[in-house]
Amino acid sequence: MNIKNIIKKEIKKILKKYNIKKKYKYNIKNNYKFSDYQIYGIINISNKENINKKKIIFNLIKNLKKYKIFKKINTIKPGIINIYIKKKEIEKIINKKSKIKNFGIKNKKKNKIIIDYSSPNISKEMHIGHLRSTILGDCISNISYLLGDKIIKMNHIGDWGNQFGIIITWIKKNKININKCNIKKLEKIYKKSQLMFLKNKNFAKKCRKNTLKLQNNNKNNIYIWKKIININILENEKIYKKLNIKLSKKNIFGESYYKNKLKYIVKDLIKKNIAIKDKKTILIKNKKNNFNIIIQKKDGAYLYSTIDIACIKYRYKKYKINKIIYLTDIRQKEYMKNIFLITKKAKYIPKKIKLIHYYFGNILNKNKKPFKTRKGKNIKLKKIIKKTIKYIKKKYFKKYKYIYNKQKIYRISKKIAIGAIKYMDLSKKRTKNYIFNFKKIILLKNNTGPYIQYAYTRILSLLKKNNTNITKCILNNNFYISNKIELIISKKILNFEEIIKKSYKNGTTHEICKYLYNLTIYFSKFYELENIYNLKNIKKKKSKLKLISIIGKIIKISLYILGIPILKNI
Ligand code: ARG
Repeated sequence: MNIKNIIKKEIKKILKKYNIKKKYKYNIKNNYKFSDYQIYGIINISNKENINKKKIIFNLIKNLKKYKIFKKINTIKPGIINIYIKKKEIEKIINKKSKIKNFGIKNKKKNKIIIDYSSPNISKEMHIGHLRSTILGDCISNISYLLGDKIIKMNHIGDWGNQFGIIITWIKKNKININKCNIKKLEKIYKKSQLMFLKNKNFAKKCRKNTLKLQNNNKNNIYIWKKIININILENEKIYKKLNIKLSKKNIFGESYYKNKLKYIVKDLIKKNIAIKDKKTILIKNKKNNFNIIIQKKDGAYLYSTIDIACIKYRYKKYKINKIIYLTDIRQKEYMKNIFLITKKAKYIPKKIKLIHYYFGNILNKNKKPFKTRKGKNIKLKKIIKKTIKYIKKKYFKKYKYIYNKQKIYRISKKIAIGAIKYMDLSKKRTKNYIFNFKKIILLKNNTGPYIQYAYTRILSLLKKNNTNITKCILNNNFYISNKIELIISKKILNFEEIIKKSYKNGTTHEICKYLYNLTIYFSKFYELENIYNLKNIKKKKSKLKLISIIGKIIKISLYILGIPILKNI
C-alpha cells in the first residue's frame, strides 16, 4: 500500500479545487518521531497564492479523514500536518498484502523500455570501470520487470572503432594466428599496438587504412575482427555469470550493428540542415547549446556519436518504446544530452519519448584516487571477485575447513563475495564517487551485502527450527502488533512499496539498501527481545513467525532487485 500516494492524491485534488495551476513543491515525510507522515509546504503554497491557509488545511484534513487507515490528523506550527495511522488498519493491510506476489506492487501504466547497459569496449577485459554500468543496469531492469514494464536489454558493446584497425594491423604485421589467441594474448596485442600507433606515424597510417577497410567490409579484416569479438564476448559472459547478471549474446547490439545506417544518417542530417560540411569534416554545430559534434571525419570514418544517433532512430522505429535508459559514467553527461537533442531535432524520435541518462560517479581507492593498479592499469573485475572470495574464505570459513568440503566453502564464499561487491556499489548514491575497501564490504555488520544475506539465513533457520517456512507462515498465520518494535517494523513494511517506487522513479538503488539495512536492524532487535521458540502462547508465536516471514519475503524481493544471491543455509 502506498500511503504517500494517497496523501499526494488528496493534496493534488485540493490544489485543483483552489485552481492552483503552478507546480509547487511540497513534501511528505515519514517522521516516526512525531507522527507517521508529515506534510510540509502547504502554508508556503497558500502564502504565494494568497489563499486562506486555515481553510485549505482544514479542507485537506477533512478529505484525508475519509480514509479508514488514518487515526488522527492534526497540525503543528508552522502549518505542518501530522498524520497517524490506525494499528488495526496496519495489521489488516499487512495480513492481506503479504499474501500477494511481490506485495501487489505494480505500475499502473505499463512502459516499454530499452535499457542500454554494461557496454564494455572490446579488446580489453572488463575492468572495475564496467562494474557500475553493468550492475546498476541490471537492477534497473529487475525493478522495471518487477513493476510490470516490458524491457529490452541492449548491450552496446564498443566493437567498431579505430582500435580494431590498430589491432588488425599489428596482427598482420607480426603474422599472428588469430585462431590461437586468447583474451590475455589479445590484451597484450592491444597494449603494444596502441603504443606503436602513438609513436610510429607510418604504422598509424596503416592502422587508419585498415579501419577504413574494415568499415568497407574487407573480407580478411572482417574475419580477424569477428574472431577478436568472439574471444571477448565469451570472456565477458563468464563475468556476467559470476556476477549473476542476466545478459547474454542475444542482448548484444554493439556499435557495429548500426554500421550500414551511418551513411544515410550523415546525408539526412545534412539535408535537414542539422549537420554541416566544414572542409571535409561533417559536424553538428549548436550555438545555442554550445556544442560541436563531429559525425564524419575527413577520411570518411564515422564516430561513436554517429552510431548513437543512428541507434536511437533504429530503436524507436523498431521497438516503439516509450523510454530509453542509458547507463554510463558521468563523463558522458554532456555528450548524451547533446545526442538526445540532435535526435529529437531530426525527428528520429518523438519529443514525448523519454531519453534518460543515468550517469554515475567513479570508484576510488583509499587515497581517493581512481581505482587503478600502482602502474596505473585498470583493475580487472575478475581479479576483484577472486580477491574478495579469498578474503571471505579466510575470514569466515577457516573453522569450517573440517566440516565442509572445499567446493561447498568456495560456492558459499562466492555468493557472499558477489553480494559484498554488488551491495557496496548499489548502496552508494549513483551520482557520487565512492571508495572501495575490501575489508569493509565483507563485514557481517553495517550496511553490507553479507549482513543482509546473513539476516535472511537467520530467518530461514529460525522458521525451520519452528517447523515452518515463509510461505506457510504468510498463508496460514494471523499477524497482530504486540509491542513497540513490532509497530515500528509494521510501519516499515508499509513503506516498502514507497521505497521501490521511489527507486524506480529515480533510477537509484541506495534507498533500497538503506531500507533493507534499517529493517534488518529492527529485525535483530525484535529477534533478541524474546525467545520465540519457547513462547507458550500459540497465537502470539504464530503472529511473530509471520512477521519474521514477511521480513524474509521483503529481503528476498529486494535482493532479487539488487541481483544479489540469497543463501539458503550456511
Ligand atoms: N562503450 C561505451 C564506453 O565504454 C559505453 C556505451 C554506452 N552506450 C551508448 N549507447 N553510447 O564508454
